Formats: sequence, structure tokens, C-alpha cells
Amino acid sequence: MTDPRIAVINERLKEVNDIIAVSSGKGGVGKSLVASTLALTLAEENYKVGLFDLDFTSPSTHVILNVKNVYPTEKNGVVPPEIHGLKYMSIVYYSGEHVSPLRGADVSNALIELLAITRWNTLDFLIIDMPPGISDATLDIIRLVKRIKFLIVTTPSQLAFETVRKLVNLLSELNIPIIGVVENMKMKESRFIREQTEKTGLKFWGEIPFDYTLEEAIGDVNRLSKTKFMERIKEIAEANINKI
Ligand SMILES: Nc1ncnc2c1ncn2[C@@H]1O[C@H](COP(=O)(O)OP(=O)(O)OP(=O)(O)O)[C@@H](O)[C@H]1O
Ligand SMILES: [Mg+2]
Repeated sequence: MTDPRIAVINERLKEVNDIIAVSSGKGGVGKSLVASTLALTLAEENYKVGLFDLDFTSPSTHVILNVKNVYPTEKNGVVPPEIHGLKYMSIVYYSGEHVSPLRGADVSNALIELLAITRWNTLDFLIIDMPPGISDATLDIIRLVKRIKFLIVTTPSQLAFETVRKLVNLLSELNIPIIGVVENMKMKESRFIREQTEKTGLKFWGEIPFDYTLEEAIGDVNRLSKTKFMERIKEIAEANINKI
């Protein structure tokens, strides 16, 4: 029997125009920072934006955006709180700072539950901070969220891009759209990622330099918005978001 909550999920998301999953082949490449700053940037540009942290392995957008003392409210489901001009929802509201990570079926269940109860209402963009790589949770999210599109983050390393290829192959097999590739933590001039991206038939959105000021700006949205990192995200979003 199929879980009745699965039908509810896509009903819940029907007033959301674009659902963008910020994903990667591997961990630690900057997904959470890209997802958070992209959501902030789009909200600043007066789009209606939601940010959904579905990274069960290491939820971190609440730290990046300093989400404190705001909680979802319950009203025919769960209504995400608003923070920095965007609607915010995270798995941490439910997992808390648990030491023991959820396992297999529990992750699936928590994901289904969270997707089914959250009321986003009308949004231009819902940005999802995804778990790293191709985990069961990634596959679950793809299965559950019908209109999902992927934005892929990679570092300049060919090792990172090798894992991106695996993700791209999987998404292509499943007919899931990939809107673009962002190259993060760039330290020196190189065309490798751009060329590989284009060779794979994908759109190269742009590059973000390694930014030494980023660490001190985590948890301080005002400071974050003045970093080179977020400046670049703004430029990259402006150049690409209307073409997805
Ligand atoms: N352009 C950059 N310049 C400097 N530091 C960066 C840059 N991008 C990301 N970082 C740093 O790299 C680390 C990983 O970033 P982040 O947590 O966003 O990656 P992630 O892909 O979400 O990781 P995970 O797979 O664990 O969820 C963080 O400490 C972040 O501050
Ligand atoms: Mg992350």
C-alpha cells in the first residue's frame, strides 16, 4: 500500500513555483552556504522564498542564518516561521541536537512526515538544502517531490567532479532536470569544471572564490551579505534564475 502522506506532499507543494534542490556529489563543498545565501538573495529581490533544510546528516542552515527562538506553528499542518524575509523549515526542529543519527526507515519516515506537514503556501522558490551525495535520503526526496530541480555545487577538484558525474547520471536516468552547476571555493584560474560541465551538456552558472572572511560571517546575516561569497551568489542568481 502506498503511504497516503505521499499524495499529500505534492498537494502541499502545488503553490510553489520552482523547487530547487541544492545538491552535490560529495560533502563539504558549500551546499548549505549556497542554499542559504541563494534563499536570502532571492528574498531580498522580493521573491517569495522558502528554505528547507533536509540534510539529516548535518543540518547547518540554522547556524548559518542564526535561527534562534523562532519555531513553526501548528495550524492544519505546520507553518514555517519567517526569518530574514524567508520562510524557514529544518529537520532540526524535529531531530534537535540528537547525538544518535536517524537510521534507514526512520529517515524516510521523518522525511515523508516533514514534507507532508509543512505548509509553504504560495512561493516563487523553495530552496532545499540536500544531504550530501546520493544517499537513501536523496533518493527518497527525489521520489517524493515530483517537481524537483537540481542545482549542483562542486569544488574545482576533479575528485569532486567525478562524484558530480555519478549524480548527474542518476538524475538523467530519472529525468530530473538539472538547472546548473556552481563551482565553489575557487583558488586559482582554471577552466576544468566549466569545460567538463559544458561537455556533460549542463549549464555552468558561475564560480565563487574561496573567501577567507566567510567563516566569521556565519551566523551573522548582515555580515554574510557583505562577503564576496554572497556578492557572487547574487550575481550568479541574477544571471541565471530567470532561465531555469
Ligand atoms: N567559498 C568559500 N570560501 C571559504 N570557505 C567556504 C566556501 N564555501 C564553503 N566554505 C566553508 O566550507 C565548509 C563547508 O561548507 P558547507 O557546510 O556549506 O558545505 P556542505 O556541502 O553543506 O557540507 P555538508 O556536506 O557537510 O552538508 C564550511 O566551513 C564553509 O564555511
Ligand atoms: Mg550542508
